[in-house]
Amino acid sequence: MKLKVKEKLFGYMDQEIKNHIIRGDSLKELKKMEGEKFDLIITSPPYNVGKEYEVKSSIEKYLETQEEIIKQLVRVLSKKGSICWQIGNYVEKGEIFPLDIFYYGIFKKFKLKLRNRIIWHFGHGLHASKRLSGRYETILWFTKSDNYIFNLDDIRIPSKYPGKRYFKGPKKGQISGNPKGKNPSDIWEFVLQDWESLLWDIPNVKSNHPEKTIHQCQFPIELVERCILALTNGDSWVLDPFAGVGSTIIASLKNGRNSVGIEKEEKYCNVAQARIEDFKKGNLKFRPINKPIHKPSKNDKVAQIPLEWLSVSQ
Ligand SMILES: C[S@@+](CC[C@H](N)C(=O)[O-])C[C@H]1O[C@@H](n2cnc3c(N)ncnc32)[C@H](O)[C@@H]1O
Repeated sequence: MKLKVKEKLFGYMDQEIKNHIIRGDSLKELKKMEGEKFDLIITSPPYNVGKEYEVKSSIEKYLETQEEIIKQLVRVLSKKGSICWQIGNYVEKGEIFPLDIFYYGIFKKFKLKLRNRIIWHFGHGLHASKRLSGRYETILWFTKSDNYIFNLDDIRIPSKYPGKRYFKGPKKGQISGNPKGKNPSDIWEFVLQDWESLLWDIPNVKSNHPEKTIHQCQFPIELVERCILALTNGDSWVLDPFAGVGSTIIASLKNGRNSVGIEKEEKYCNVAQARIEDFKKGNLKFRPINKPIHKPSKNDKVAQIPLEWLSVSQ
């Protein structure tokens, strides 16, 4: 029996596709997908810097191609959904072009709203000799509407000084923080000891990282996890249109979400499937989410849990 178009589209997202990588070209595969399906689209696109999986072109041509894909991504994004676009610099003759600046204009054309420009800092990388060494990339977090999923409590991090109190005003003497922890923040202050703790300090995936595979540009599973926890619910679908070795799928599986990835290179698809299987068997190595960066001494009064909080259930 011949299926009607609607049934075909629904069937596309069946159990065989769930938590899998589709091998193919993003634009072509996206065109087959039903609209408004995904609550989160998270990816790190090619940067047009001549990596083994890309053919370098002019920045104009590169952005034109990406715009076509983004148009489809906006179509498949749910009304309460978010796009997290993790990106670094395009470099030409020593001059850097921060790609998020160029992408911002494209997303605005499609009327998306920027909620945060998250700085992702990492401590290691190439040492530059004619400019400062690059040690961060950004994640542009856009939403389709003003009514978007945002579960702040699910990504709170431990307060550095849970015992801190208001020292003046009507709340003087009361505890100023939240027993569930603090907002992880997208910003830093130029105070040395706060520098590391306020940034999204997640080591990038270099050779000594437990998640390292053959892929040159993996992002860490914990980076994706934080976005998934904050921007999706239990029944949400997550999409990575440039899935590489499947970090997004693993982060989704780890948190009980449904996900799909698209990747054009067979060898990365194979590694991704192997990682997914290893994860399911409990054999995949990964860095745990939210490893604390700075711990004040337990003797510091401000580091102690206030008596008032001991009765609050976590
Ligand atoms: C920066 S990497 C993403 C790595 C991924 N975040 C991970 O953790 O493994 C970009 C990926 O996009 C893939 N790619 C580039 N153009 C593509 C296209 N048109 N369709 C599908 N995949 C594409 C590349 O092969 C590469 O693996």
